[in-house]
Amino acid sequence: MTDVRNIVILTGAGVSAESGVATFRGPGGLWEGHRVEDVCTPEALAADPVLVHRFYDERRAKLTTVEPNAAHHALARLDREWPGELLLVTQNVDDLHERAGSRRLLHMHGELNSALCGLCGVQTEWRDALPPLTRCPSCDAPALRPDIVFFGEMPYHMDVIEAALERADLFVSIGTSGAVYPAAGFVRIARACGAQTLELNLDRSDGSDWFDTTRLGPAGTLVPDWVESLIG
Ligand code: APR
Repeated sequence: MTDVRNIVILTGAGVSAESGVATFRGPGGLWEGHRVEDVCTPEALAADPVLVHRFYDERRAKLTTVEPNAAHHALARLDREWPGELLLVTQNVDDLHERAGSRRLLHMHGELNSALCGLCGVQTEWRDALPPLTRCPSCDAPALRPDIVFFGEMPYHMDVIEAALERADLFVSIGTSGAVYPAAGFVRIARACGAQTLELNLDRSDGSDWFDTTRLGPAGTLVPDWVESLIG
């Protein structure tokens, strides 16, 4: 990699797979037993809040049983040691990047350990089960919901992410199928703005053709190797 100073990294479910968190679209994927539209849309939340809240309660509880893997730790090391600009954008709603130590991190699809008030929009750290009609600690409306960006809702931090993509010298995508926009389009923005682009994934993704380089394999091996090659 030549002349790299500003790095943007995008992670997806594949980076947490070796920690035991199910991916969405692989065999045994997370939506198994649930149609996406039954658990991950604003309409689903309105129609069956008990089902939607329970689905995310189970996933939140699962977080307490899993640990960051070698890929999360390598990215945290890069965050600590990289002297230039670095932004880690994750589509994941687990907390494994921050538990590994990443700090320059944005969750564009929300977080399991956060609750969002459907009325006033305040976000509150949330570690327990979240029953429907739980009252917001800020405005007292019985309107707390999982702080997850549902299909049809606007991902978080898009202005900051797009600005970082425009400045990036290197864009790296790790463990994502490239099936969901806007994240799937980041490689094209970065490329158009002059960045080198690298994909690290188990299989070729929907967007593989857009990357300068694709390396196939498990994130737990590929990511530490890549970080080592960058900072030694
Ligand atoms: N190492 C690297 N990549 C892996 C591994 C692994 N150990 N295991 C699986 N993968 C790859 C798969 O090959 C696949 O390309 O990770 C990718 C996971 O893809 P998805 O399950 O589609 O997950 P993701 O891309 O994060 O989904 C995007 O879709 O449902 C929504 O909001 C949800 O954030 C999610 C978004």
